[in-house]
Amino acid sequence: MRYGLKGRVAIVTAASRGIGLGVARVLGREGMRLIISSRDRERLAEAQRELRGEGIEVETVVADITVRSDVRRIVDVAVGRYGTVDVLVYNTGPPKPGTFMELSDEDWEYGVRLLLMSAIWITRDVVDHMIRKRSGNIIYITSSTLKQPIPSLTLSNVVRLSIAGLVKTLAHQLGPYNIRVNGILQGYVDTERLREVASDRARREGKAVDQVLLELASQIPIGRLGRPEDVGELAAFLASDTASYISGSLIGIDGGMVLCL
Ligand SMILES: NC(=O)c1ccc[n+]([C@@H]2O[C@H](COP(=O)([O-])OP(=O)(O)OC[C@H]3O[C@@H](n4cnc5c(N)ncnc54)[C@H](OP(=O)(O)O)[C@@H]3O)[C@@H](O)[C@H]2O)c1
Repeated sequence: MRYGLKGRVAIVTAASRGIGLGVARVLGREGMRLIISSRDRERLAEAQRELRGEGIEVETVVADITVRSDVRRIVDVAVGRYGTVDVLVYNTGPPKPGTFMELSDEDWEYGVRLLLMSAIWITRDVVDHMIRKRSGNIIYITSSTLKQPIPSLTLSNVVRLSIAGLVKTLAHQLGPYNIRVNGILQGYVDTERLREVASDRARREGKAVDQVLLELASQIPIGRLGRPEDVGELAAFLASDTASYISGSLIGIDGGMVLCL
C-alpha cells in the first residue's frame, strides 16, 4: 500500500468491468473500502466476488446512472454502510457513437443524462457530506476527447466538455472546504468497449479484430493500449494526500497519443 488510503471510503460508479473495475481494483488493493455500482446485477456480483477474493471490502449498488433515484441510492448506501464518503470516482457508460447527422433528439437527451447529468446528480448527493466534514476528493473519469475529438464520437466530443467546466468551477468553489476536484482524460484503454469498437471497425474494413487493435496501438507513442489499472493508479495518486496541491486539473493518460496542449 503506497498511498496512505487504507480505511478510507470510495464510491466508484460504472465499475462492474472495464476502466471502473480497474480503478476499484487499484483503490481496493490500497486498502480503501468500496462501493461499486452499475446496472447489471450479475456482472456487478461477479466483480464483487473478484474483488473480495483479493481481500477487498466492497459493497455493490445496482444503479442505472441515467436515473436520478438510482444515483441517489448509491450515496445513501455508501453513507449507510460506512458512515462517510472520502472519495468519489465518477465513471459512466460509453455513449452511442455516431456523426452529428446520425444522432436523434432522443440520443442527445440520453447522452446528456449519461455524460453530464449523472455527474451533476452524484456530485450534489456526495458534496454535502464532504462539506460537513471539511474534506473530500472528487475525480471525474472522462476521455481524451476533451482535448482531441474523435470524429465518430460526437456525443463524447460535445457533452464531455462540460465536465471540464465542472472540474474548474467546483475546484474553485469547494477548495475552501478542503475538497479537491480533478478530471482524468484517458486515451485508448483495453476494455470490452474498446474491443466492441474494434470489431465494428474490423467488420466494416474487412480486417481481423486483432489487426485493428494493433493499428490503434500503433498510434500510441509508447506502443501499447492502456490498461484499466493504469487509470486506477492515477486515480489512487489523485485521491491520496501526496496529491494535496492538485485540484482543478484535467490530467491526460494516453501513452503520448494526444498531441495538443
Ligand atoms: N476504453 C477506452 O478506450 C475509453 C477511452 C476514453 C473514454 N472511455 C470512456 O470511459 C468510460 C468507461 O469505458 P470502458 O471502456 O470501461 O467501458 P466498458 O468496458 O463498456 O464498461 C462500462 C461500464 O459502465 C457500466 N455502465 C454502462 N452504462 C451504464 C449506466 N447507464 N449506468 C450505470 N453503469 C453503466 C457497465 O456496467 P453495466 O453494463 O453493468 O451497467 C460497465 O461497468 C466510458 O464512458 C467510455 O466512453 C473509454
